[in-house]
Amino acid sequence: MKGIVLAGGAGTRLYPLTLSISKQLIPVYDKPMIYYPISTLISMGIREILIISTQRDIKLFQNLLNDGKELGCNFYYKTQSKPNGIAEAFLIGEEFIGDSNVTLILGDNIFYSPSALFNFNKDISGAHIFAYHVADPGRYGVVEFNKNNQVISIEEKPTKPKSNFAIPGLYVFDSNVVSYVKNLKPSSRGELEITDLLQQYLQKNTLKVTKMDKGTAWLDTGTFSSLMQASQFVQVLEKRQGLKVGCIEESAYKMGYINAQSLRTLAQKSFSSGYGKYLISLVNEN
Ligand code: TTP
Repeated sequence: MKGIVLAGGAGTRLYPLTLSISKQLIPVYDKPMIYYPISTLISMGIREILIISTQRDIKLFQNLLNDGKELGCNFYYKTQSKPNGIAEAFLIGEEFIGDSNVTLILGDNIFYSPSALFNFNKDISGAHIFAYHVADPGRYGVVEFNKNNQVISIEEKPTKPKSNFAIPGLYVFDSNVVSYVKNLKPSSRGELEITDLLQQYLQKNTLKVTKMDKGTAWLDTGTFSSLMQASQFVQVLEKRQGLKVGCIEESAYKMGYINAQSLRTLAQKSFSSGYGKYLISLVNEN
């Protein structure tokens, strides 16, 4: 399984901010936003990760994350010329995907779960997405289920949502996704829509949707308020537990991609900030 993080410059609601920098580079509490989706992918067992951003900012992501080898991963970088839609990630990543299954995660989505969040069979054929109960489904793609928990419809930002289940920015596809995207036409807003892609899988009966359990947090950072709330959420959890959320070094260590010595070396780089001290404490705990 390979992974793609889409961290481009759509972000219309934070536009004044993104004029100067991709928002995925700004911090959510104590680390850059992009750490969270990368840490999710690493915790899912994904080590080959393509990061897509704008021509302007891709170098900044590269400076921040390098080639991933220090984390026992491989990071690759590609650019999107303009925000042509989430589904375009699969065209940009065509060569990278090859004949692997692929997980796409949006660069501004944060997941937190006390249990193994995405412990599912990754040898899927078709598509596997998630559904998350939210108070304001109309801001998202919305899934409607029948009594037997089968999906009957998917609608993008409906004015009258048929359920409270929104689709989070984490999607798993088999390698056929590239050819499916090639069938897509841009929507009225000129984007290759992920919802239209999912419709194709739904029509072919190859779309699996798993409801995320209540204890899982899915936060997006698409508005100034939700960005602030995400920072507060991470701060409250980290202060209370003394454990970090979205710490890529910790995820790589827990997955066994790096050993204690490598974690110590990484810790030296940020020792003065407290982040490094936390990494050292993980080694000492073991
Ligand atoms: P959003 O702009 O929130 O994408 P959306 O289509 O879900 O939202 P809306 O319709 O409300 O505008 O972007 C989600 C993430 O994906 C964010 O990290 C930016 C990134 N992205 C790209 O990199 N390229 C794109 O073409 C798009 C649409 C989004």
